Amino acid sequence: MLLLAIETSCDETAAAVVRDGREVLSSVVSSQVTTHAVYGGVVPEIASRKHLEMITPVILQALLEADVPLSAIEGITVTRGPGLSGALLVGLSTAKAISLACGIPFVGVHHIEGHLFAPFLEQVVPFPFLALVVSGGHTHLYHVEGVGRYTTLGRTVDDAAGEAFDKSAKIMGLEYPGGARIDAMARDGNAQAVKLPRPLINDGSLNFSFSGLKTAMMQQIARNPVLIPGRQANDLCASFQQAVCDVLVAKTTAAIRQTSAKRLVVAGGVACNSGLRESMTRLALTCGADLHIPHPTLCGDNAAMLAVPGDYYLEHGLSSPATLDVTATWEMDRVSEVFR
Ligand code: KG4
Ligand code: ZN
Repeated sequence: MLLLAIETSCDETAAAVVRDGREVLSSVVSSQVTTHAVYGGVVPEIASRKHLEMITPVILQALLEADVPLSAIEGITVTRGPGLSGALLVGLSTAKAISLACGIPFVGVHHIEGHLFAPFLEQVVPFPFLALVVSGGHTHLYHVEGVGRYTTLGRTVDDAAGEAFDKSAKIMGLEYPGGARIDAMARDGNAQAVKLPRPLINDGSLNFSFSGLKTAMMQQIARNPVLIPGRQANDLCASFQQAVCDVLVAKTTAAIRQTSAKRLVVAGGVACNSGLRESMTRLALTCGADLHIPHPTLCGDNAAMLAVPGDYYLEHGLSSPATLDVTATWEMDRVSEVFR
């Protein structure tokens, strides 16, 4: 099946053409990062307007790069939530319009379903597997038995890992979004230099908490302002990144033991982080699990990843009704509520 995928949940307008949920013919991502950077974070109203401006050019570019006419598209997969409502509405309305005009089905999928299955675009990943999703809005551990069959094992009780990276970067005076910048500076820093907490690391649960780490960063900078660029700033970045990775590794190890998982998927924007990629590689070796982390271009928000669950649903005759609405919050155990 030849699918058009559309993603507009936050600050990336993305479209892709994917064959059979596997073969990526094109993947176009138009980022709004520079627009929002001056405000230090995503401004929802501006995000919606930017999506409205870019959605048609991005879709046309995806069709052009795939060398596929719109008339050849057999179905559409689109992010229905969670995310910014106004941003989601642009993608969903566009998907509905194309579906109606071309007489093809569309299906609304969960943004995190996309992240979870991104590795499927590059390699064969047998079910079941354990998944750690680390993004700007999520830090979740899932047991995945198949498409649409997810059990939440653990989640953040406050900030997500990406949020912690971005907020800590902001405290340090680094430009939004600071995750990648902290990663780059951490490479030249000493991860043992600054003592930072590892929240909930030994609490016996599979939940995460990162807001205390952000407070510790604030206190650290209030006591000892760092100059950027400089060795002290690099040390603080490395120490912060190590603290986040230590918690993610400890909880993922516990989840692997608890579920006897043989495979581990690590996905979402924070899966780009070089320290986390190294830590997860070591963890998988220690636990004897196969590790699947997408290429960095597939870790961040993109539309191609939505084609994996989208293709599965449409091939199984599951599509969404024209009345489907977006949702800003949506639990993964309720993904089936989008079907007609
Ligand atoms: O998955 P994603 O693109 O969007 C959401 O669904 O949220 O994730 C974005 C998050 C941001 O918080 C960003 O700072 C973080 O991923 N991120 C990183 C890195 N690259 C992106 N965090 C740490 N290290 C990186 N290299
Ligand atoms: Zn995302």
